[in-house]
Order: sequence, then C-alpha cells, then structure tokens
Amino acid sequence: MERTFLMVKPDGVERGLIGQVINRIENRGFHMVAIKMLRISQELAEEQYAEHAGKPFFHEMLSFMTSGPVVAMVWEGPGVIQSVRRLMGATDPAQAEPGTIRGDMGTSISRNVVHGSDSRAAAEREINLFFNDSELPG
Ligand code: CMP
Repeated sequence: MERTFLMVKPDGVERGLIGQVINRIENRGFHMVAIKMLRISQELAEEQYAEHAGKPFFHEMLSFMTSGPVVAMVWEGPGVIQSVRRLMGATDPAQAEPGTIRGDMGTSISRNVVHGSDSRAAAEREINLFFNDSELPG
C-alpha cells in the first residue's frame, strides 16, 4: 500500500488550519496512519531540505520551518503521493488553483501551509526521518 509524508508547516499550525488540511485528505478517502506535533530542530530541517542547500531561500526557509511547531503525518492509500500533491496545489500559492490547499489558504511561497512528498523515494525518506518503525503500522 502506498504511503506519503505530509506536514502542516508552522504557518498552518499557527493559523489553526490543521483540521482543514486533514479534512480535505480524509474526504478524498485516504487514511492517516501516523501523526505527531513537534518542533523541528535545525539538524532535522537541514536533513529534510538537503536538496535545497545552497539555494538563495535556504536559510530563510530553515529559520521559518524551525520557528514553531509543525504537524507531521503519514497517509496511506492507492496513488496517495500524487493525489495529495494535487490536493496541495502548486508550491507558490499565487500559482495554485483555487480549491487546492495552497490556492485557498497559502499566503506566500514560503508560508504555503503544507509540505508533501513528491515521489516514492522522497516519501520513504521523509517518513523515516520523522517516524520510528514502532510509530508506524506494519
Ligand atoms: P516545500 O514543498 O516544503 O519544499 C521546499 C520549499 O521551499 C517549498 O515548499 C517552499 O515553501 C520553499 N520555497 C521554494 N522556493 C522558494 C522561494 N523562492 N522562496 C522561499 N521559499 C521557497
């Protein structure tokens, strides 16, 4: 069964959008199999976003991602990786379609409410960064 990693970023938590994000994915028929609220450390943020190291927005993004609690989740279901990406919408809320999470709730490219895995490899890597085997159903 396919799984993906989804995070409500500090802006989404601060603005009280956790429930709305979860609702949209549950309404689509997917199942949440793990969830936790945590404050991301600098080390974890650097590891999660390693592919963006050196980009002009990297340091600002890390300081935002470590600025407050996030909600990390694992979702399961057929085609869940691409479906959640469609539900999230384009990275930049200004480009995201109305009806998507970022199109309806995002306020800027960095404060775009959610992060979701973009491939099977990324999903596996991100799930394992945030969750131990004992926190995931077999
Ligand atoms: P996310 O899906 O979490 O993956 C990488 C993040 O980098 C992305 O969402 C954006 O929030 C952020 N990002 C990408 N481009 C920029 C940019 N030009 N300025 C600030 N943040 C960016």
